[in-house]
Amino acid sequence: MPLSITDRPPEAQGVRVVHAALDAGVRLLDTADVYCLSDEDLGHNERLMAMALRTWNGPRSEVLVATKGGMTRPDGRWDRNGRPEHLRRACDRSLKALGVDRIDLYQFHAPDPQVPFTESVGMLAELQGEGKIRWVGLSNVSVDQVNAARRHVEVVTVQNRLNPWFREALQQGVVEHCERLGIGFLAYSPVGGGRLNKKLPAHPLVKAIADRHGASPHAVVLAWVLEQASNVIVIPGARTVEHALDSMTAGELRLEAEELRDLDEAEFDRA
Ligand SMILES: NC(=O)c1ccc[n+]([C@@H]2O[C@H](COP(=O)([O-])OP(=O)(O)OC[C@H]3O[C@@H](n4cnc5c(N)ncnc54)[C@H](OP(=O)(O)O)[C@@H]3O)[C@@H](O)[C@H]2O)c1
Repeated sequence: MPLSITDRPPEAQGVRVVHAALDAGVRLLDTADVYCLSDEDLGHNERLMAMALRTWNGPRSEVLVATKGGMTRPDGRWDRNGRPEHLRRACDRSLKALGVDRIDLYQFHAPDPQVPFTESVGMLAELQGEGKIRWVGLSNVSVDQVNAARRHVEVVTVQNRLNPWFREALQQGVVEHCERLGIGFLAYSPVGGGRLNKKLPAHPLVKAIADRHGASPHAVVLAWVLEQASNVIVIPGARTVEHALDSMTAGELRLEAEELRDLDEAEFDRA
């Protein structure tokens, strides 16, 4: 997402970031039609991912690309549109932008209060039936919405926000519910998003744990998120090769039980 929204770097840098992540072993790229500047620019990030994959000297077939539909960017705003006809149009546009015949994982970006949830989900089931989508995922959903969707379509992933400042996915039981059902949980904004992540190096506990392990503060937080349940996957954003590669180190970082408990109990100030 940060490669295509405000303050995005030049495309050549975006491609370098993706190549570096793939070379280091990343096999899941999360994108969306609305990772762009406005409705005139829809699909920017999908086209960037497609270009990066086309020019990568690695095993393309191993890489899973997850995209989303169900939002729009009029004048740069983030609006919801869960109408079935919009989702069909968006899916067709994403197929074209990604340059594929079938989308690996298509996620409904966010429930639209103006549209009955099951009508939106019903369209995803229809698109899957037509072979345009392999797997269906949801994003920004509650436990009840996961259950409602499952009556219409098999849900393989749920993508909600989860970081030390925002733990509602844990508190409201979404992570645990997904774990019980065998649904993958993609933690978005895992290091806090564009603003809050900058506070991490100054957080005394995070810094102390990072120093003890010779790791970065961001890697410590990613390791904490990963420890929340067996089904959790983190999808950190990055504009630089350095940040992408640093985030990869979290996979090898093993925090002690006491460190995890301390992080559970620590204050994370949003101001
Ligand atoms: N489903 C949804 O509604 C939704 C909403 C938001 C995001 N997402 C998804 O979640 C992904 C990540 O979310 P996000 O970009 O909001 O937040 P994030 O991953 O928590 O962090 C964003 C920023 O943190 C910095 N960062 C990340 N790892 C770092 C590291 N190891 N060291 C230093 N800095 C680091 C990066 O800065 P630089 O840019 O300077 O490299 C990055 O842009 C998005 O790309 C998108 O795929 C989904």
